[in-house]
Amino acid sequence: MTRHFLVDTDLTPDEQASVLDLAASLKADRFSRRPLAGPQTVGVVFDKTSTRTRVSFATGVSDLGGSPLIINPGETQLGHKESIADSARVFSRMLAAVVWRTYEQAGLEEMAEHSTVPVVNGLSDDYHPCQILADLLTLREHFGDLAGRTLAYVGDAANNMANSYLLGCATAGMHVRVAGPEGYLPREDVVAAARERAGATGGSVLVTTDAREALAGADAVVTDTWVSMGQESEKAERTEIFAAYSVTAEAMALAAQDAVFLHCLPAYRGLEVAAEVIDGPASLVWDEAENRLHAQKALLTFLLDSSGLSADLPAA
Ligand code: CP
Ligand code: NVA
Repeated sequence: MTRHFLVDTDLTPDEQASVLDLAASLKADRFSRRPLAGPQTVGVVFDKTSTRTRVSFATGVSDLGGSPLIINPGETQLGHKESIADSARVFSRMLAAVVWRTYEQAGLEEMAEHSTVPVVNGLSDDYHPCQILADLLTLREHFGDLAGRTLAYVGDAANNMANSYLLGCATAGMHVRVAGPEGYLPREDVVAAARERAGATGGSVLVTTDAREALAGADAVVTDTWVSMGQESEKAERTEIFAAYSVTAEAMALAAQDAVFLHCLPAYRGLEVAAEVIDGPASLVWDEAENRLHAQKALLTFLLDSSGLSADLPAA
């Protein structure tokens, strides 16, 4: 069966842990796996702009012995002149995997339904699961473990990052807290799915409008832009709505004494995070950015292996 990664819960807790183990081993020995030997081609399709996702997938696919095909917004027939289903059928005949950054999660689901090669969510309006794997790798490197640690996300709690923190951290057995203003909290179905996962892993989920409640004693503090891609026309309004949720030095002081700061980037200093926090000693954002490479290489290797499509399956 072809395995896809459209949402954080597409990996079981055990699978997520194995992907993180493999990511750590690929970080230590960068060219040790070649599941894309040939080279086989991986399509990396962008409907929205990107720096990290583009560079990390291009580099990662090359590291794994493959060849990346980067497709920029508006360069294919996908979604306007040709249906997602027909595009998926064509991609499947030539590519080893497809990474797609797009708007609607339903588009990714449709692509996966008609694809015989793995489809990976490179960010949608609803989720950014590749980023969470990189964040978990970063926290694991720093703390040595994930289960039982508390992560507090404050800011736009209705966006793709908040949703993926809920699902991905619950999968890792973490206590995940998200705080945002009324009207900008995660959807009930996402919270319910995160609670279900947390119930199986020993983690927990808290959703609140009170940033102080979320931050109290947290091991990791995270935030994201208040204006996600596609929301640019709401910038002025959002900047006011989220002002009380900025991660300042005072906010960090509410977290654990050895708390770390993460941000998926790009960051807007003086808005969702103070410069002294993101550029200060608690910040792990550059390790986090680098870990996109290692985490995604592990993910692609896992998806190809478990779909029976790897060119380099390890000896049993
Ligand atoms: N964090 C992240 O996904 O960055 P890009 O938008 O630059 O890919
Ligand atoms: N929430 C942000 C994440 C960027 C990586 C966005 O969707 O624009």
